[in-house]
Amino acid sequence: MTADPDIVLSAHDIVKTYGATHALKGVNFEIRRGKVTTLFGENGAGKSTLMKILSGVTVPTSGDIVLDGEKVVFSSTVDARDRGVSIIHQELSLAPNMSVRDNIFLGRELRGATGVDDAEEARQTAGLMRELEEDIDPLTLVEELRLGQQQIVEIARALSVNARILIMDEPTSALSASEVEVLFKVIRDLTSRGVSIVYISHHLEEALQITDYAVVLRDGAITATAEARDIDLQWIVQNMVGDHYDRGSPPTGYAFGDVALSVRDVCVEDKAKGALLVDHLSLDVRAGEIVCIYGLMGAGRTELLEAIAGRVPLASGAVRLHGSDLAGLSIAARIARGLVLVPEDRQRDGLVQTMSVGENLSLASISSFVRGMLTSRPRERALVESAIRNVHIKTAGGGAPIGSLSGGNQQKVVIGKMLATGPTAILLDEPSRGIDIGAKSEVFRLLGEKAAQGLAVVYSTSEVQECLSVAHRIVVMRKGRISATFGPDVSKEEIMAASGEAVTC
Ligand SMILES: Nc1ncnc2c1ncn2[C@@H]1O[C@H](COP(=O)(O)OP(=O)(O)OP(=O)(O)O)[C@@H](O)[C@H]1O
Ligand SMILES: [Mg+2]
Repeated sequence: MTADPDIVLSAHDIVKTYGATHALKGVNFEIRRGKVTTLFGENGAGKSTLMKILSGVTVPTSGDIVLDGEKVVFSSTVDARDRGVSIIHQELSLAPNMSVRDNIFLGRELRGATGVDDAEEARQTAGLMRELEEDIDPLTLVEELRLGQQQIVEIARALSVNARILIMDEPTSALSASEVEVLFKVIRDLTSRGVSIVYISHHLEEALQITDYAVVLRDGAITATAEARDIDLQWIVQNMVGDHYDRGSPPTGYAFGDVALSVRDVCVEDKAKGALLVDHLSLDVRAGEIVCIYGLMGAGRTELLEAIAGRVPLASGAVRLHGSDLAGLSIAARIARGLVLVPEDRQRDGLVQTMSVGENLSLASISSFVRGMLTSRPRERALVESAIRNVHIKTAGGGAPIGSLSGGNQQKVVIGKMLATGPTAILLDEPSRGIDIGAKSEVFRLLGEKAAQGLAVVYSTSEVQECLSVAHRIVVMRKGRISATFGPDVSKEEIMAASGEAVTC
């Protein structure tokens, strides 16, 4: 059907509807041999839906897929994989209680003379880990790995099938800068061998480095395409969200209140290694103040926030909320007192997949609706509706299953859920992960608004630009300690230098 030999796969007039939702409205899309085609678009634009169709996860409502000039219908992911199309999913799909090796070979075990050839599988797994420059033993259980390492395993699994077309849906959302660099090296190696890549990311600058062809999807339709050499970041932002994008600035015009959250000399231990992940750290945050914690992956940011929220034990030190010591209080008790955490791994820790959007949103606030045996439905409904509005969740309504939301919109549910509890101090671990650039500025704007009303905000980020969006104070963490503290007028380079990162820009 297609005459251009460089186009390995093309999609024609793809329509996908879910009930009343038109996820894709007649999309034409081409994948070029040995090139990286990047799909940009807001949360809910239809990126994952299109990729799921091209990899056999789901079928289109109408439209055709042409592979090597021939019309194909993928009946399953195995069918697509057999024809050379492999996908790295946005939501990690690993079995947590199985080893790295067993996850990589799940469903396509290598057979030897006497059954599954465990040793060969382990050897190949070790080879993949070497290629990805990740020091992970093939026999480690996936649940013992940090989120970024799990993402690496997901990538390794996709690489192991030697696909001709490799789709990467947000492969780097939890990776460190150096892990991203390695992945990009691997991608360049693959494309030089003729493998075609489709890449999706909300890290726009990063994605632009690897892109050959850029495609922008908006509300289920393609609105712009270009060769990467002809475009810049501004072009992407403009085509994704239009003119209304605002990077944000710290809220002003009010005085901070008393110290809301006080962290004193806190240590968190890595028992297995006998090392300190958080090393005698102290930090005070006043009511109304927004503090950003910047650091590289492994600097101890997640551990610090989890320790404050009561998810991991303190080896020593104390955490106080409005002057009262939180020692011994459970996570739920801390929430009831006004301290909440939006966790890093929102898929696993933040959402109940069997529940609706509304149930997930109101879950953490449930005690405020329960009067004896009765739940106040109207109050719950009002909370759900305002949460959907506040964090701009794109959903058919509060009754929709959580799984029907796009990845980024699921993330917004967790943020909305925690804000709905009416906290006086909120901790957010990488709040913008998986969230599009427009929604990101909305979330930061909302945090600014709440801070002006007295909320103490602490958020962590590994994107230096995000430190400058709303924070009054920027705290840099390095090896479990605070290595520098800055005001909002600091430069990106100063922040990066304090984190131990090589400053290249
Ligand atoms: N299984 C489903 N049931 C109902 N609606 C769905 C389902 N999957 C996706 N949708 C809807 O289709 C639209 C496109 O979603 P999709 O996941 O493709 O977005 P996306 O561009 O990948 O966004 P993100 O950047 O947040 O990952 C959204 O409105 C979403 O709610
Ligand atoms: Mg998606």
